[in-house]
Amino acid sequence: MILNATELLRWYDTHRRSLPWRGSDKQRPSPYAVWLSEIMLQQTTVQAVIPYFERFLTDYPTVQALASAPLEDVLQRWAGLGYYARARNLHACAQKIAERGAFPQTVEELQTLPGIGAYTARAVAAIAFGVPVVPVDGNVERVTARLFAVEDPIPAARPQLHRYAATLNDDPIAQTRPSDFAQALFDLGSSICTPRSPTCLPCPWRTPCKAQAQGIAATLPQRAPKTARPTRYGVHFIVADHQGQFLLRQRPTKGLLGGMDEFPGTEWRSTSWSAEEAFHHAPALSNWTLYGEVTHIFSHFTLKVTVYGTPLPRNRNQVIDTEFGTFRLLKTAALPGIMTKCLKLYKTSAE
Ligand code: ADE
Repeated sequence: MILNATELLRWYDTHRRSLPWRGSDKQRPSPYAVWLSEIMLQQTTVQAVIPYFERFLTDYPTVQALASAPLEDVLQRWAGLGYYARARNLHACAQKIAERGAFPQTVEELQTLPGIGAYTARAVAAIAFGVPVVPVDGNVERVTARLFAVEDPIPAARPQLHRYAATLNDDPIAQTRPSDFAQALFDLGSSICTPRSPTCLPCPWRTPCKAQAQGIAATLPQRAPKTARPTRYGVHFIVADHQGQFLLRQRPTKGLLGGMDEFPGTEWRSTSWSAEEAFHHAPALSNWTLYGEVTHIFSHFTLKVTVYGTPLPRNRNQVIDTEFGTFRLLKTAALPGIMTKCLKLYKTSAE
C-alpha cells in the first residue's frame, strides 16, 4: 500500500503545531535545536519539555556552549525532567560534536554518538537534514498499527510495525519534504490518531486506514499485559540550617539518578524500614518530625519514601559527618523529582 503523502502534508500545512524547536514553514530548524528537543522528548511530554528546552537554548545557545559547561550545571538544569542518563549522554554527545565541529548528517554516523539510538538518529536526519527516513516513536507505531490493522500485540509486533513504518514515505512526494513529513506523522499521532479515542473523521489518511475500515482503530495497537511494577521503600532526612541551606549529598555518578543530589537517607529496598532501622542512616540529631510519605513512579519500580525532618540548632553544621552531605542552597542543587516531592511535603507541613 502506498500512502498519499500529499494528503498528509496538506493537512500538516494547515494544522501543524507551533513548537519552539520547529523552524518556520520556510526554514528548517537548526540541528542543535532538533537534537536537543528529541533527547528531551524521549519519555517526556511536549508540555513538560517546552520550559526546559527554552531554558537550555537561552543558557546554552550553541552545542559548543553546552559542551563547555560543567556537567553539574547541565544536571541542575535538567533536574525534574527524569531519566538522568539522558542528561549525561547529552553532555557527552555535545562534546563529541564540538570536537568534530558539526553534527554528522547521516543516520549511521548520528547513531554512533552517545545517547543517539535508531529513533533519534532518524528524527535528527529527517527533521534537520532532510534525509528521507521515517523516525518511529510511539506515535508512529500507533499510526502504523492502525493503517495496516496490525492486531498482534506490542512488543512482539514491533519488527513488523517497523517494516510497515519504513514504507509510510514510499510516495515520491514524501521524499520532497522529509522534514515536514516526519513532523506531520508526530502531529497526526498526537492530535488525530490519539491513543484512546482517535478522531478519524478529519484524518487525512482515513480512506486507506485498514483499522478504520474494520472499525477497530481505537483498539490498536494491542499491548501484552504489563508485568506488575514492584514497590521499593526508602527513608530520607531533611535538615535545614538557619541560612535556609539544606543538607544534601551527591548520588554515585553511575546508576539510577546518577550524579543527582539527594537528602541523606537509606537505600531503596523491597521491604519497608522500621523507624529504628532507618535512623541508623540519619545524621545524629534529635527532634525529628515525621512528615509523611511520598510516592514516585520510576520505569521499573514504584518508590515510597518516608520523610523526616529537623531544624538544625544554630552553628551545628560542622558536627555532621560528611557522609551525610554538605549544607547547600537549593538553587545550586540538582534535585530529581522524588527529592522535590520530599521537599514539598516538608515545606507545606512546616508552614
Ligand atoms: N515527539 C517526538 N519528536 C517530536 C517533535 N519533533 N515534535 C513533536 N512531537 C515530537
